[in-house]
Amino acid sequence: MNTLTTSPVAPLLDRLFEEAAAVSPFTIPAVAALSSEDRERMLQSKTEYLDLYGRLKDAALPVSRETGVLLYLLARSSGARTIVEFGTSFGISTLHLAAALRDNGGGRLITSEFEPSKVARARRNLKEGGLDDLVEIREGDALQTLKKDLPNRVDLLLLDGAKALYPEILSLVEGRLRPGALIVADNAEMSPDYVAYVRSPAGGYLSLPFAKDVELSMRM
Ligand SMILES: C[S@@+](CC[C@H](N)C(=O)[O-])C[C@H]1O[C@@H](n2cnc3c(N)ncnc32)[C@H](O)[C@@H]1O
Repeated sequence: MNTLTTSPVAPLLDRLFEEAAAVSPFTIPAVAALSSEDRERMLQSKTEYLDLYGRLKDAALPVSRETGVLLYLLARSSGARTIVEFGTSFGISTLHLAAALRDNGGGRLITSEFEPSKVARARRNLKEGGLDDLVEIREGDALQTLKKDLPNRVDLLLLDGAKALYPEILSLVEGRLRPGALIVADNAEMSPDYVAYVRSPAGGYLSLPFAKDVELSMRM
């Protein structure tokens, strides 16, 4: 028995992934109104992310099912008790990580989302999954909300918010990462500065591209 593959979390995740697949981000009018050049620029921008993700407020944009399982598996196998997440959205990745905390015997997950309607949805989903007691959602720009009051020791960090901010968010959490802590960066190819940093021998990480779209790194 485990929390991820049993009720209530398993049927909830099935439903949330199905609902997410039914909404194509590019057909949302506020996103469709952008040219592909605008979209590309905004995705790489350190200043236009609030505008872009505001337009995407009705899209779940979840990690893939495989990445979700990977998150659970990494958090379980490393015995994670403290996790930080950048980019909550509707809480699909959060549910995977919180399920692992539950099965590890408990812990604390701090996650961050600036869009209020997404925070509300994530809270509902975590409550439905029976995992809300493990999760603190910090509402606001993660550049501010993850600046303070982090646990002294962080076992796992998921980066899945605005791609251009991965280096900045890592630097906020870096001092708390325990030796052996894992960092999962989704769609890291969209954050070349981040990939260069974690792969540089001087950076203090061991890092490799993992599966289709994940950079998996370990704090040395
Ligand atoms: C790709 S989605 C996250 C998906 C989620 N991890 C999942 O798998 O279910 C990215 C989310 O990050 C949020 N976001 C982007 N930049 C942010 C920032 N600077 N601070 C807080 N949230 C941010 C967006 O509003 C969006 O909901």
